[in-house]
Amino acid sequence: MELATIFLLVFGLRFFPKSFAIELNNISDSRFLIDGDTLVSDTGIFELGFFPSGSSESRYLGIRYKKISVSTLVWVANREQPLDSTSALVLKIMEPGILVLFKNMSMIWSSNKTMESRNATAKLHDTGNLVLMDLDEKVLWQSFDYPTEHWLPGMKIGSDYSRGIEWHLSSWKSSQHPVVGEFTWGADIHGYPESKLKQGTRVILRGEPWRNQRFSRISEFNGNLTVTYNVIINQQEASFAYNLENSSTMSRITLSFSGKLESWMWVEAGMNWQLGASFSQDVCDTYNICSAYGSCIHNMTQQSCVCFDETRFVPRSKRGWEMADWSGGCVRRTQLECKNGSEIFIKYSNVKLPDTQSSWYNRSMNMQECEVECLKNCTCMAYANPDTGLGGRGCLLWFGDLLDASFLHGCGMRGKTRIKLNQ
Ligand SMILES: *[C@@H]1O[C@H](CO)[C@@H](O)[C@H](O)[C@H]1NC(C)=O
Ligand SMILES: *[C@@H]1O[C@H](CO)[C@@H](O)[C@H](O)[C@H]1NC(C)=O
Ligand SMILES: *[C@@H]1O[C@H](CO)[C@@H](O)[C@H](O)[C@H]1NC(C)=O
Ligand SMILES: *[C@@H]1O[C@H](CO)[C@@H](O)[C@H](O)[C@H]1NC(C)=O
Ligand SMILES: *[C@@H]1O[C@H](CO)[C@@H](O)[C@H](O)[C@H]1NC(C)=O
Ligand SMILES: *[C@@H]1O[C@H](CO)[C@@H](O)[C@H](O)[C@H]1NC(C)=O
Ligand SMILES: *[C@@H]1O[C@H](CO)[C@@H](O)[C@H](O)[C@H]1NC(C)=O
Ligand SMILES: *[C@@H]1O[C@H](CO)[C@@H](O)[C@H](O)[C@H]1NC(C)=O
Ligand SMILES: *[C@@H]1O[C@H](CO)[C@@H](O)[C@H](O)[C@H]1NC(C)=O
Ligand SMILES: *[C@@H]1O[C@H](CO)[C@@H](O)[C@H](O)[C@H]1NC(C)=O
Repeated sequence: MELATIFLLVFGLRFFPKSFAIELNNISDSRFLIDGDTLVSDTGIFELGFFPSGSSESRYLGIRYKKISVSTLVWVANREQPLDSTSALVLKIMEPGILVLFKNMSMIWSSNKTMESRNATAKLHDTGNLVLMDLDEKVLWQSFDYPTEHWLPGMKIGSDYSRGIEWHLSSWKSSQHPVVGEFTWGADIHGYPESKLKQGTRVILRGEPWRNQRFSRISEFNGNLTVTYNVIINQQEASFAYNLENSSTMSRITLSFSGKLESWMWVEAGMNWQLGASFSQDVCDTYNICSAYGSCIHNMTQQSCVCFDETRFVPRSKRGWEMADWSGGCVRRTQLECKNGSEIFIKYSNVKLPDTQSSWYNRSMNMQECEVECLKNCTCMAYANPDTGLGGRGCLLWFGDLLDASFLHGCGMRGKTRIKLNQ
């Protein structure tokens, strides 16, 4: 039945070429998306269709801004299987509730099966999210669960524990080819959640532990954009999303094929995308560049490392340090004894919180309980309140050497860290 329908459609296409394009509002059992047509979001911000990527010949089932002159693919379905211009293309809904892309009658891409559902429909939301839902509008599948290299407002980065989905950006192979490239930007949820930019498995840049306030590295949207963050950390998920206060601004964040995270804003007057900020330009941002207990400083000419607190830490290798080899990091001048009562915490302000890979957290503990908890374990080196938006509650403990922490120079107040130290 299904195949026969498509067969007819293919021949229909071949013998009666369409002379006009149709703008669909939804895809359903009886409405397919064929080559030339588009699925358009309610207020016409986004459209889904078969679009070329840059100047390449290949086309992709993708989502782009409808209203602007520069074709900007914000999501691509068939990243690995480009479409040629001669094949008949159909996107349709198949039982039991999946979206399937056919090229000359053979299936080349499909959404994942979630729940069985008859009468599913697909709509493109004004956020740029392609959503497949059942009659009760329950979401069966959505493109926001499978980001490509674009991070749009409202889109989550992180992990959905209950559904086993990991939300991360993955770069294109080149500026023209959506094929999965080398870089990813996603969450590290080994300890307290934070974002990491990786090249393959190697971490090259780290965000800070998530919190609902402004993030220093993504607060630099050009102009007058107000950005709010939405952090969810609970049993079901750990996620981070951003939103723009002015929803009519067109702004997006991309992970470029060369591994740069960049924010862009559409400037109507100039009819182009203006680069707002690039988050990976500063050499001091290079992941763990100063190793354990090191802090990166940069003056006009070059980057260099200092020990986090020079009165209490010294470079592990003085010689290495002199030759700008920071790999040894710093060590305590006096070793911890880890006897009850022999240690205190020194409070540091204005720091970038260390890597949370080896950390533990409890979002409802207060600072006193947090300190007591840290003292219980000899490998606990520091504690902090990860998110001051939790009404004074929240406890984050670090185990083992503190990595990728940094004093921030001239950046204002950014949380408090205390390090467990000998008196
Ligand atoms: C789908 O689109 C058709 C035609 O525009 C419209 O009649 C129908 O109400 C839409 N269905 C939904 C669920 O939006
Ligand atoms: C798809 O079918 C058309 C028409 O029959 C043909 O010209 C084209 O080569 C086919 N494409 C592929 C990839 O098989
Ligand atoms: C389907 O699920 C797999 C595994 O979770 C994922 O890698 C893939 O991207 C998903 N594809 C789509 C189109 O949803
Ligand atoms: C749902 O789909 C079935 C066939 O799959 C059809 O008989 C039924 O009328 C549809 N229901 C609605 C509400 O569209
Ligand atoms: C921000 O707003 C002010 C006042 O409305 C305006 O003068 C300025 O040009 C704006 N900046 C940008 C980058 O749009
Ligand atoms: C929101 O953004 C649009 C488009 O950039 C702009 O025209 C409008 O003035 C902005 N509104 C506010 C309240 O800033
Ligand atoms: C910059 O750092 C280098 C290496 O640490 C140092 O030799 C130089 O004196 C510094 N310059 C300034 C202006 O601080
Ligand atoms: C540490 O000493 C205090 C009193 O100085 C005592 O109340 C506490 O129970 C001791 N904790 C451990 C883990 O021994
Ligand atoms: C977190 O802390 C609260 C308050 O101290 C406590 O009731 C709760 O059991 C703790 N949860 C975990 C998982 O340790
Ligand atoms: C201390 O913390 C580490 C890291 O979480 C854990 O592996 C170890 O078992 C803890 N030790 C004690 C005595 O609780």
